[in-house]
Amino acid sequence: MATAIEVSAWFFASSLLLVSASAVDSKNNPADELVAVLNSNRTAHKSSALFDNPGLGCLALEYIKAYQGQCGEVESKKPPESLFADTFAPTCGVQAPTLSQITGRLLGCQGKYMPSSQAFSDMLIHDSKSLEILYDKNHTQVGAAVSGTDGGAPYFWCILFSNGKPNSTFLFEGGVAKTVRPGCFSGNDDDCSSAYRFQHGLWGLVAGILMILFYSFGL
Ligand SMILES: *[C@@H]1O[C@H](CO)[C@@H](O)[C@H](O)[C@H]1NC(C)=O
Ligand SMILES: *[C@@H]1O[C@H](CO)[C@@H](O)[C@H](O)[C@H]1NC(C)=O
Ligand SMILES: *[C@@H]1O[C@H](CO)[C@@H](O)[C@H](O)[C@H]1NC(C)=O
Repeated sequence: MATAIEVSAWFFASSLLLVSASAVDSKNNPADELVAVLNSNRTAHKSSALFDNPGLGCLALEYIKAYQGQCGEVESKKPPESLFADTFAPTCGVQAPTLSQITGRLLGCQGKYMPSSQAFSDMLIHDSKSLEILYDKNHTQVGAAVSGTDGGAPYFWCILFSNGKPNSTFLFEGGVAKTVRPGCFSGNDDDCSSAYRFQHGLWGLVAGILMILFYSFGL
């Protein structure tokens, strides 16, 4: 017995799904977006644009994972430097001898997901110290990562800077970037929307089903 109200609930639910899928489709990789926002901000400030190094981007994602989802530790704790060589580089397939100095980091975490441009201006750049890091003349390259813990909240945003030579530092073994999930990192030209699309799509689906139940049973 398909009543008019059930049919309209179906249309409503399917349009919700479409909206949630297309909103995510326009953002292929939030980590690449973060670097784009950062570089346009630097160039508007007459600083140089930084090379987007995928090896460094992957290390930024591992850097996030070192926090094990502990949002509250972002300000107070720093993973030990030794983890770069001991853990992050091997996981990413980055050749240890090509590791170079990290000249700055910007890190943020919160329970709600937000677009990269907003994460940049509302969270990562929040005081004079973070502005100093952003415009530091010693940086030559950058790597960014965006990740949820197990694909969900809390969400982390991380930008690592380095003064190494772009073409000879943070190199992948065999020259090929490893795909490390969950999360997205910059510089690899990869489409990282699928993890998010799944997640948002799933919530859209759950919301849609709840909506249908709501209407069908008049709850
Ligand atoms: C760069 O971003 C910061 C933080 O959002 C903002 O305060 C500043 O005005 C921006 N600078 C330029 C040149 O857009
Ligand atoms: C740039 O690097 C030099 C040498 O490592 C250091 O002395 C200087 O403080 C750095 N500059 C900034 C702005 O961090
Ligand atoms: C890196 O190497 C590529 C190809 O060899 C070259 O086109 C590019 O200009 C180099 N970039 C830098 C920053 O040296």
